Formats: sequence, structure tokens, C-alpha cells
Amino acid sequence: MWKKLRIPPISRVTHRLSLGGPMIRLDGKAVAAARRELLKTRVERFVTQHGRKPGLAVVIVGEDPASHVYVKNKVKTTTELGMASRHIELPHTASEAEVLETVAKLNRDAAVDGILVQLPLPKHIDSNKVVEAIDAEKDPDGLTTANLGLLFAGRKRVAPCTPWGVMAILEHYKIPVAGKRVAVIGRSNIVGKPMAQLLTEADATVTLCHSRTKDLAHHTRDAEIVVVAAGKQRFIGRESFAKDAVVIDVGMHRPDSGEFAGKLLGDVKFEELEGHVSAATPVPGGVGPMTIQMLMENTVTLAENRASKN
Ligand code: GUN
Repeated sequence: MWKKLRIPPISRVTHRLSLGGPMIRLDGKAVAAARRELLKTRVERFVTQHGRKPGLAVVIVGEDPASHVYVKNKVKTTTELGMASRHIELPHTASEAEVLETVAKLNRDAAVDGILVQLPLPKHIDSNKVVEAIDAEKDPDGLTTANLGLLFAGRKRVAPCTPWGVMAILEHYKIPVAGKRVAVIGRSNIVGKPMAQLLTEADATVTLCHSRTKDLAHHTRDAEIVVVAAGKQRFIGRESFAKDAVVIDVGMHRPDSGEFAGKLLGDVKFEELEGHVSAATPVPGGVGPMTIQMLMENTVTLAENRASKN
């Protein structure tokens, strides 16, 4: 038998889907907050058992303001959870060799359980090479080929945080996945491909759509669940979804000009969905807060794995 992927259950189920009723706003912020409380207990147990904190190191190269905001949030959450945090900033002039050396040092550091190199990296640095240099047992993003390979072989170590967070939202709201027709839009290694794999493991019938898909609306309208990770702001709306579909929006855009300047936008025109779909994630407050929560959970999983080996 194939091993089933399991998301740790959480006790507080706040909503159930009801077809034909008002649209349920799938509140990723609330799901992340509920899971955070459970994770705190897991961190405390780890500290009691092993006499040290699970540790996450975050490496950022360059001065991109948005990336710095994301990294600050990750560092803050790590500390709030009672975990050990390392924050390494390298200038945009850092060479690929310097970044690789930083990763190598963290690989050797026994106090570090997770190493996250914030992407994107400056153009002169090969991100594949850097990600691949991370010890797979310390890769909380689940992005090394070793970890992606394990995921696709049905022997997951950790799954990439965003799609793993989507699975946790579906699980929290008791949205059945087994046997459902699911369309995923986007085929990146960080979201679309692992999303399709996690859904397949959960017994969904998945159609993986992308920029070259012909008649995209045909696929999305046929789906009972649609995960939109197209990377294009306000890409699709009501007419693309079946009545009572569940819509998960992975998009995150902050345009600096135009009608929506300065606002955080998703890939979906959320305001069009009420009265048509059964449930949808808003942006902000949907998938976004789950990504960071799953990063923390993955780091603790890696810490527990490492500690049980020693
Ligand atoms: N940049 C944007 N999202 C992510 C993520 O999930 N992981 C890493 N390493 N970089 C990112």
C-alpha cells in the first residue's frame, strides 16, 4: 500500500461546506493561528526532550524590500514560537561562492535544523546550485531535488510550504479531496507541481494547467476545486469557475501603479465570487499566512527527525 500523506489533524473545525449557502471565506490567518498554538506545544516538547531549541537559519542576499519584509516575518515568527533563529544578510554584491560557503557552514552547524535561502537570488547567482547545496535533511522549503524526489515517490520528508499550507486549509475546513476533480493552474517547482502531487496523494483527480494550456476555462469550469497559482494579478474571476466550486488563490501581487497601486492582490477576482462558488481564500488572509506556518512546522519536523537519528 502507498503510504498516505497526513496533515496533523487540528481539533477546532470552525466551518463545514454547505452547497448553495453563502460563500465561505477560507480564513488562512485563523487556520495558521490555530495550528501555531499546537506547534508551540510541539516546540516545548522538543526543548524538554532534547535540551535545545529547534533552529531555523534564514539567508537573504541583496536589498529587495519585499524579500526583507518576508524574512523579517519569518525571523519574528520563529522567535515567537520559542525556536532559535539565525538571520544572515549578505549584500547584493556577494558572490555565488560566498553564498555557497554560508550554506555549507549552516549545514555543518548542529544547532541549525532548517536552512532557508530567500528567493529570488540576485541574477549572478545560480539559485538551483544554492538550493541544491542545502543539506536535504535541513531543507524546510522542501525544494532540494532530494526532497522533491521523495515527495513525488510518495515518501515525503517535508513538502514545499505553500502547497502544504493549501492542503492544511482544505483539511481544516473538512473539504473532501478524494475522488474530486481538481484543476491546478501553474507548474512551478515551488507551488504547482508539488500541489498536484499532494492532491494526487490525497486521491484527487488532478489536471495541471499552465500558460500553454488550451481552453483553460474548460478545465477550470469542469473542476470542483481550483488552485490558482498563475502568477498573474486578477487573472480569473467568476466566469471561470463552476457553481459551488472551491477556489484557492495562491497569488500575491502588490502593483506600484494603476487602479490597485499599493494593494495586495491575488490571481483571482475575489469580489466576483460571492453567490457563485461555495468557498474561496481571500488575499490577503488566505494562503499567505499558511506558508510561514508550514515553514515553521517543517522546521520542527526536520528537528525531530534529526534528533531521533542522534
Ligand atoms: N520567496 C518567496 N517565497 C519563498 C519561499 O517559500 N521560500 C523561499 N526560500 N523563498 C521564497
